[in-house]
Amino acid sequence: MPENILVIGSNGQIGTELVTELRSIYGSSRVIACDIRRPDYDIKNAGPFEFVNVLEKDKLKAVFQKYKPKQVYLLAALLSATGEENPNLAWDLNMNGLLNVLDFALEYKTAKIYWPSSIAVFGPNSPQNKTPQYCIMDPNTVYGISKLAGERWCEYYFQKRGLDIRSIRYPGLISWKAAPGGGTTDYAVHIFHDALKKNTYCSFLSANTELPMMYMDDAIRGTIELMGAPAEHIRIRSSYNLAGMSFTPEMLTAEIKKQLPNFTISYTNKDPRQAIANSWPQSIDDRQAQNDWSWKPKFDLSKMTEDMLHNLKSK
Ligand code: SER
Repeated sequence: MPENILVIGSNGQIGTELVTELRSIYGSSRVIACDIRRPDYDIKNAGPFEFVNVLEKDKLKAVFQKYKPKQVYLLAALLSATGEENPNLAWDLNMNGLLNVLDFALEYKTAKIYWPSSIAVFGPNSPQNKTPQYCIMDPNTVYGISKLAGERWCEYYFQKRGLDIRSIRYPGLISWKAAPGGGTTDYAVHIFHDALKKNTYCSFLSANTELPMMYMDDAIRGTIELMGAPAEHIRIRSSYNLAGMSFTPEMLTAEIKKQLPNFTISYTNKDPRQAIANSWPQSIDDRQAQNDWSWKPKFDLSKMTEDMLHNLKSK
């Protein structure tokens, strides 16, 4: 019998591209998109869609009941910057949303769950360069706290209840298809839109703020590779460190200037996202993902910049 796959939070920056990719692999009718917002035209017309809020248990249960999904991807979350504006909602959505999904996954015998964690699980006392898989973790955003707690729950459900949960600590994700929402790393997407529209960008992070980043193509491929790996290869059931590239606003500007020589950047000095960025890693050690399931990124800074500008121009 063909298996159903449920993607919760299907209309966000990751969901938009993940649903399309999963539908091309498994067939459109097998991938059920779910969100609290009306889907964009493509997703709605390409396959099934359900309006669901992960916090509404009855409605969520009805979706599990209806589709009995064999794989679930839970992407609904409030990110770092919006989380600080609404800490209670961030905690509620990020934590109870996860627990609701894990419990229904057990009840309806979901075979595999994917849940994203983030570089935000690290904090000011974590080593900032080549941040290791295991180290001090003292996140100081509600988002980071909820992701770290979520990682512990994932490992707990794997160890105590046998759920096959897999997870990646995504770096900042850069993409052109759907907009990012409420993150500290979002400058690295906004900059491309403004570069093409106005030839100038005002960055909310300072020139030398280095952060780990990844192009969406790599993130989607990595996610699908992790979900496809044999269970016995997945030795980390909290969440895997994953590296793509690391750069500063200044380095990204230099790269954009190779194609748009007149592009200029300025910097705002007082943005609360700066403090968040300062508490995060600059680069990530992802040897465990390389060893366990052969992770390897394809996009570096220059390839990503070229691809972003090319696609945004033709969009
Ligand atoms: N991109 C996210 C954020 O900035 C990090 O996971 O909040």
